[in-house]
Amino acid sequence: MIKTIGNLRLISGTSNQALADAISRKLNVSLTPVKISKFIDGESYARILEKVRGEDVFIIQPTCYPVNDHLMELLILTDAVRRASAGRINLVIPFFGYARQDRKNLEREAITAKLVANLITVAGANRVIIVDIHSDQIEGFFDIPVDHIRALSRIAKYFKKLDLRDFVVVAPDEGSVKVNNKLSQILGVPLVVISKQRDKTKVDSFEHIMLLGDVKGKNVIIIDDEINTGGTIVRAAELLKKHGAKEVYVSCTHAILAGPAIERLEKAPIKEVVVTDTIPLPEEKRIGKIKVLSLAPILAKTIKAIHEDTSLGKVLEEWRKV
Ligand code: R5P
Repeated sequence: MIKTIGNLRLISGTSNQALADAISRKLNVSLTPVKISKFIDGESYARILEKVRGEDVFIIQPTCYPVNDHLMELLILTDAVRRASAGRINLVIPFFGYARQDRKNLEREAITAKLVANLITVAGANRVIIVDIHSDQIEGFFDIPVDHIRALSRIAKYFKKLDLRDFVVVAPDEGSVKVNNKLSQILGVPLVVISKQRDKTKVDSFEHIMLLGDVKGKNVIIIDDEINTGGTIVRAAELLKKHGAKEVYVSCTHAILAGPAIERLEKAPIKEVVVTDTIPLPEEKRIGKIKVLSLAPILAKTIKAIHEDTSLGKVLEEWRKV
């Protein structure tokens, strides 16, 4: 017999309605109605419009732009569900904002990833489901269970459809060598690395990049956890072209695409930009070369396994098969 904590309830914040709708369709469970609004001074308001007493509640809310509003909304929704006596509160945070600061680089800085983990726990979360968080050690910032989903297999499946002769995978910086190495192994193509030196006193900037390996006459695939301003990926593509690369395909889990990103990607020598739907892509950012892959199927399966208390390991093992 399946052991459950109350009924499965899905609640969506306002940050990624399309993803929540897709998860709801996959699970064949409607979203529980909520009222979310803003007071004139900018404060957020949330109320759950149906009973959740004793139920197994999953709140879907990536904390993407505007990060502060979406984070606060998530905390308020969690508090509302806790005060409504839910049986268990699971937060599905496919993009976890404030993860970049996971340690002190300079004196007198904050560690925002830990701060947000504390806020979420104090608000009442019993479990967190995340996707490709900026650094794996953030899992340990929580004293509640964390399920960490990887988009790599979905992205690898997409690229496997290409004729991969004359391809190499390129890591755009040292931090992304591990994931790019995995991708190169899945696709059975060599790995090349770009070494990037960041100026840690400046936000969103880096100084110097250098190519370790050969890309002449090769098509290239790059994977990164996120594209923020597009600086890293565009400079990587330009460097690769300068060294004789043919087509450059780039991919990432989180399409933050802030500031000049879209303009940069449009102008860059990049054939295709493959991203997932952890962050919604507004109409004005939908340029022809961006392809969106949905993570709703794996998130739905994850939610189902957690709700039914069955092995998530098995679900993820199946998911990793490319
Ligand atoms: C860096 O550590 C990350 O993995 C990304 O490479 C970075 O956040 C991308 O930022 P941007 O698009 O602004 O270069």
